[in-house]
Amino acid sequence: MAEILNPPPKHVAIIMDGNGRWAAAHKLPRSAGHREGAKAVRRVIETAPQLGIKFITLYAFSTENWSRPQDEINTLMQLLEKTIDEYQHEAKQQNLRLWVSGAREPLAPELLDKMDKLVQSTATHTGLTVNLALNYGAQQEITHAVNALLAAGKKQITPQDITAHLYQPQLPAPELLIRTSGEQRLSNFLLWQAAYSELYFTPVLWPDFDGKELQKAVQIYQHRQRRFGGV
Ligand code: FPP
Repeated sequence: MAEILNPPPKHVAIIMDGNGRWAAAHKLPRSAGHREGAKAVRRVIETAPQLGIKFITLYAFSTENWSRPQDEINTLMQLLEKTIDEYQHEAKQQNLRLWVSGAREPLAPELLDKMDKLVQSTATHTGLTVNLALNYGAQQEITHAVNALLAAGKKQITPQDITAHLYQPQLPAPELLIRTSGEQRLSNFLLWQAAYSELYFTPVLWPDFDGKELQKAVQIYQHRQRRFGGV
């Protein structure tokens, strides 16, 4: 490859798409695709720090995903709860910090409770920050920020004001945004933060994604020319 231009991205955001198609291709129920997807999440969390990544945002469940069949929603929620349970121990070993972006309503109190505990118990960890976009919608996030500013009595707002009232104000904007499975749209993900993100679309289905695929995306990112509107 040609000379490396950019340092590795600090923040990578991922739209993990294609679990259902992976399952169909393997003649398995959609739930099996989601379970394999959870394994891919683990692989990516393990590899990211080796690539210099400090923050990773994973689109685990969108505000639009509530329109899926109830049994699929249940599968996803159980999988999330199970993964959070497992990371109560592993987050310490891997020095991971958990952040969550999204609306709390109508998530189950047990899930919220487990999540809150993991967020609290990992708050001082200094390794990779895993920001779980759960019950997340970017339009809702921006609206929430604007409403908070209105409630504070603001009559005029700046872009910096909005950034300061996002779900995770300390999260830097993602330099790289990945979507798997060949789809090429943002689907209400990080619309504010992705203003200057490099977009990377791969046909690989999420359950097949691994450290090598992440490394490939990062390398391609490092060779992109970023201009931020300049020349
Ligand atoms: C998209 O595949 C994936 C999701 C809607 C959910 C992502 C969830 C996981 C990867 C599993 C659990 C997550 C964590 C963080 C442990 P799709 O069902 O839309 O696939 P399709 O477009 O092929 O049907």
